[in-house]
Amino acid sequence: MIDLDEARAKLGRQAIVLPDPAPEHPLLQGKREIGRGEYSIVFDKGDGERVYKVISSPADYFLYTAEDRPRGPHFPIVHADHGIVGRACSGYPFHLLEMEKLYPLPVGSDAALLAAKLLEMYWSACQQWSRLGMDMGRIALHHMVTHPLDINEGMRESLRALSDFIEEYQVLPDLLNADNLMMRKDGTLVLSDPVFIA
Ligand SMILES: Nc1ncnc2c1ncn2[C@@H]1O[C@H](COP(=O)(O)OP(=O)(O)O)[C@@H](O)[C@H]1O
Ligand SMILES: [Mg+2]
Repeated sequence: MIDLDEARAKLGRQAIVLPDPAPEHPLLQGKREIGRGEYSIVFDKGDGERVYKVISSPADYFLYTAEDRPRGPHFPIVHADHGIVGRACSGYPFHLLEMEKLYPLPVGSDAALLAAKLLEMYWSACQQWSRLGMDMGRIALHHMVTHPLDINEGMRESLRALSDFIEEYQVLPDLLNADNLMMRKDGTLVLSDPVFIA
């Protein structure tokens, strides 16, 4: 198994959590915060199906709302864009999205095994391109999807779509973080937060 903390340290990516208070918005009133990362805060909608996700990274905004964003079973379903609801300390606006509720990968599940395999492949590709610095992840992913890849066709296609999106929108892959891979209730692995902006 790869050591994710070590891998992230090499990429200069530490585990930082967004310090901002939750923005005020009628849709968020009384909603429980169930997740927080470096750029986003997630609230349970309470219907068992959806969450409200407040995002501050432009990379995430492109990924979740662009007309030509990658779609398919391994990408999260976005139901609504409720607009700008404030501004983060970072200076970026907070956008409020309504999207499908996803779940952490249960240890030993098929989704967790597929995620581990994917991360192994990605990390080993990264090591091949480590001299590229910032561009390492982007080139590693591109290399992976343009060469034979021992992973199921659906996931291969999703990685191809992700790589195309990354090239098109000039963002970077953010796959070496176990929290960024989640699953649907039916067990499908979802690349829930696969990009960031430097
Ligand atoms: N669709 C979702 N449903 C439920 N929880 C989520 C969802 N998306 C993210 N989360 C939770 O919120 C945390 C932060 O989300 P993430 O997308 O990684 O944000 P960031 O852009 O800050 O890295 C995740 O670690 C996860 O626990
Ligand atoms: Mg994340």
